[in-house]
Amino acid sequence: MQTIAFYNLKGGVGKTTTAVNIAWHAARWKHRTLLWDLDPQGAASFYLGVDGSRTYKTGSLIKGKQQIGNLRVETRWPGLEVIPSDISLRNMDLKLAEPGAGRGSLKRLIEPLSENTSLTLLDCPPTLSPVAESIFAAADYLVVPVIPTHLSLRAFEQVMQWLDQKAFKHLTVLPFFNMVDRRRLLHVEMLVKPPALMRQRLKTWIPYSTHVEQMGEHAAPVGEFAPHTPAARAYRGLWFELAEKLKL
Ligand SMILES: Nc1ncnc2c1ncn2[C@@H]1O[C@H](COP(=O)(O)OP(=O)(O)OP(=O)(O)O)[C@@H](O)[C@H]1O
Ligand SMILES: [Mg+2]
Repeated sequence: MQTIAFYNLKGGVGKTTTAVNIAWHAARWKHRTLLWDLDPQGAASFYLGVDGSRTYKTGSLIKGKQQIGNLRVETRWPGLEVIPSDISLRNMDLKLAEPGAGRGSLKRLIEPLSENTSLTLLDCPPTLSPVAESIFAAADYLVVPVIPTHLSLRAFEQVMQWLDQKAFKHLTVLPFFNMVDRRRLLHVEMLVKPPALMRQRLKTWIPYSTHVEQMGEHAAPVGEFAPHTPAARAYRGLWFELAEKLKL
């Protein structure tokens, strides 16, 4: 099982939308895929048309009193399951600070999923808290959406510095440009001459597109309701690039 976390310290950059579109592609390519919505806002579950009616307690999950496998919910796409978000995730920091928990908690939690999952995707909240540390310890790959602006790059730089300090050596960090608007000079400049920080990026970039915004309306990935659009093509390209990197 390989684990990919869709993460950025910065909010609203496209973590959830990307996680959902990549999860959908992975399942279409017959990878048994599970998306864990780790954000108490629950946007990933919503985009996949799964409601969060089956609640759980993050605390008892971390303590092993609740089995993670029981939280899996099928989506309407074969091979794609979700662990919906729960409001108790907002206390995850506190729960991870309790004795016996700690940085390895999330990794321990998801390990049993490998029995019937080949790809676990984590949709992460925008934070650099102990939750993020636990995510970094659990993930093999960190996919980081970056908007081609200085502020967004700065947030990514902070993440990289933090990863360095905390010595997460096992983690492969894969940033990519999202919400690219080619009418903007800065966006074009960054695409043509990417900053050093983006050297190891995924080369596919996702354009700014109303079709991505419409995911909420359709409660579905872009490829499902607007398959022949630039955004759908870009997500497909991103999936292929990622699949090649992960040797899927
Ligand atoms: N390529 C894109 N083009 C246009 N809009 C986009 C694109 N990617 C994301 N968005 C929009 O930007 C908003 C934020 O996207 P998303 O929820 O995926 O970000 P996020 O990083 O998960 O946010 P949060 O930090 O709140 O979890 C959403 O309204 C989404 O529709
Ligand atoms: Mg999100």
